[in-house]
Amino acid sequence: MQDEIYQMNKNILILGAAGQIGSELTQLLRGTYPDRTVVASDLHNSDVLGTPFELLDATDEKAIRQIIEKYQIGEVYLMAAMLSATAEKYPEKAWQLNMQSLLIVLNLAKEKRINKIFWPSSIAVFGSTTPKQNTPQVTITEPNTVYGISKLAGERWCAYYREKYGVDVRSIRYPGLISWKTPPGGGTTDYAIDIFHQALKNGKYECFLTENTKLPMMYMDDAIRATLQLMAADLSGVKICSSYNLAGVSFSPKELANAIQKYISDFCIIYRPDSRQAIADTWPQSIDDVCARQDWNWKAKFDLEHTVLEMIKGIKSLQ
Ligand code: SER
Repeated sequence: MQDEIYQMNKNILILGAAGQIGSELTQLLRGTYPDRTVVASDLHNSDVLGTPFELLDATDEKAIRQIIEKYQIGEVYLMAAMLSATAEKYPEKAWQLNMQSLLIVLNLAKEKRINKIFWPSSIAVFGSTTPKQNTPQVTITEPNTVYGISKLAGERWCAYYREKYGVDVRSIRYPGLISWKTPPGGGTTDYAIDIFHQALKNGKYECFLTENTKLPMMYMDDAIRATLQLMAADLSGVKICSSYNLAGVSFSPKELANAIQKYISDFCIIYRPDSRQAIADTWPQSIDDVCARQDWNWKAKFDLEHTVLEMIKGIKSLQ
């Protein structure tokens, strides 16, 4: 009987809702599912999140259990994580946050307290031994970063809980995500956001990656749409139990700068690679997402030109 009640719970909890993805995901979920309560939670509140909001640490199991009871949560989006560049500075803290939070929600689903989970993985699961062009879904995964190690381990836990306990957990290997509403925090791909802010403010940008460092990227609207699409898919069609490759657009800092110069003609960029270059050098340049396309009809909408246009319009609207 208790099991059946939990199965009926339709409300949604977002852990890490104040972050770059979480803040936009919260708004879109509330808009898409007006009949479901979407509870935003994080260590700190943010103006854009609205209500209901709960101060919540994604590693505090007891507090998460209380919130799940309080709001009759059926679905959890676990967006709290320490990203690649920051995780290199705090390896153990990163491992603890990234792993502990995942195991807490996986166990809640195993106990049938919740019935569905979204957990983001990353292109960081790949490493220097992975084929760099059109990186396949199944390939060598020997990550060279703490963040990548935690995401790869997380993927294996997701597959294990699905296969062994029937847990409905769904995941995407996000590329670098580009957005203007909420700043990113501590990633290697963050340059592709900073560059727009600096271009519009000062007309110049000092890039921490070299000019030809090509990486897989995606505009946030595509990433959120993919997330909602995967979560709405029939479980029988979600054949990848670890995490789906997802492709948007691939470009280098130089190609991005050229695209920005079409709007800001005197924009100039200089290159001063720092420690993040070593991380970027181990990641793929482009991704093969055939499984996502076949299994749940994924198709990216935003190319480089469209992304640049939206970013410039969006940041201008904030000024
Ligand atoms: N954008 C992330 C990072 O740079 C990759 O998942 O860490």
